[in-house]
Amino acid sequence: MKGQIAALCALFTVGMATPGWTADIAAGEATAKAVCAACHGANGISVADTIPNLAGQKEKYLIAQLKAFRAETRKNAMMNAIAEQVDEADIANVAAFFSSLPGAAQSAEKSKPLDNLVSTRMGFPADFATGFTHYTTINFEGRKQVRKYYANKAAVAAARDGKQMPDGSVLLVEVFKAKLDGAGKPVTGADGFYVADGLAAYTAMEKQPGWGADFPEILRNGDWHYAVFKADKSRRPGVNQATCLACHKPLVDDSYVFSLKALQEVARK
Ligand code: HEC
Ligand code: HEC
Repeated sequence: MKGQIAALCALFTVGMATPGWTADIAAGEATAKAVCAACHGANGISVADTIPNLAGQKEKYLIAQLKAFRAETRKNAMMNAIAEQVDEADIANVAAFFSSLPGAAQSAEKSKPLDNLVSTRMGFPADFATGFTHYTTINFEGRKQVRKYYANKAAVAAARDGKQMPDGSVLLVEVFKAKLDGAGKPVTGADGFYVADGLAAYTAMEKQPGWGADFPEILRNGDWHYAVFKADKSRRPGVNQATCLACHKPLVDDSYVFSLKALQEVARK
C-alpha cells in the first residue's frame, strides 16, 4: 500500500513537471529491451555499424523519426515494418527511454545482439540435393550476384494448393558470385542470368512447430527461423535473425515468403 502511494505520488510529480503528455519510461524500457535491443542494443548502443545508436538522442527527434517510419515518409524496410506495429504511446515511451540513456563513449562501441535472435534452430537441410525444387533465379546487379531459389516438398505442395506454408517447410537460396568481365561487370549467359562463379553462401528459412515463440511478437514470423550457411554448408555464426524477421514480417499473408508467386507458378506446372 505504502509502495503504491509512493508510486502514485511519483507519477503525479512527473506529470506536474511536464504538463500534458507524460511518457512512461518503464514501459519504453520494456519494449526497448524485448524488441529494439535486437538491433539498437538494450543500452541504445547499436549492435552493428549499419544501425544507428539511439542512446542520448534527442527525444523529439526519435519521436519524429519513428512517426516518419510509420508513415513511410522515411523508408527503411526493417524500420517501416517495426514502426507500423507501435502506437503513439509506445513511440513516446521508447523515445523517452532511449533519450534518457548516456550516449556512446566511443563511436566504435557496439552491443552484443540478443541471444534468442542469434540462436537459430535451423540446420542445413540433409535432403537438399534430392528433395528440393528450383523455382526461380534472380540477378543482383549491385551486389554482382546471381541467386537460385529452392523449396522443399512441403513448401511446393502448399504453394500448389494456395495454402499457407505448413510446419516442415524449408526455403533455401544459393548465393553465387557472378563471373565478371574485364571491366568488372557481371557476364550474362544465354539464359539471361549472370554466369555463376563460385558459391558464396546460402540463405534459408525453415518453419517448425513452436519455433516462433523464441522471438518477441513485433519481430516474430509465425514459426519461421532463419539461417545463413557458408559454402561448406556449416552455419555462419552470429547472424542476427532480427534483420531477417523485420524485413520479412509484412508478408504475413504470403507465409512471409517474398518469392511466393514464382514458387506458386512452378508448383502449378
Ligand atoms: C531489425 C533491426 C532493428 C530493430 C529490431 C529496430 N531497429 Fe530501429 N533502425 C534499424 C536500422 C537499420 C535503422 C537505420 C534506418 C535507416 O537507414 O534509415 C534504424 C533506425 C531507427 C531510428 C532512426 C535513428 C536516426 O538516427 O535517425 C529510430 C528512432 C529507431 N530505429 C527506433 C527503433 C525502435 C524504437 C525500435 C524498437 C521498437 C527499433 N528501432 C527496432 C534497425 C532496427
Ligand atoms: C532488407 C530486407 C530483407 C532482409 C533484411 C532479409 N531479407 Fe530475405 N528476402 C528479402 C527479399 C526482398 C526477398 C525476395 C528476393 C530476394 O531479394 O532475394 C528475400 C528472399 C529470401 C528468401 C527466399 C524466400 C523468400 O522469402 O522469397 C530467403 C530464404 C531469405 N530471404 C532469407 C533471409 C535471411 C536468412 C535473412 C537474414 C540473414 C534475410 N532473408 C533478410 C528481403 C530481406
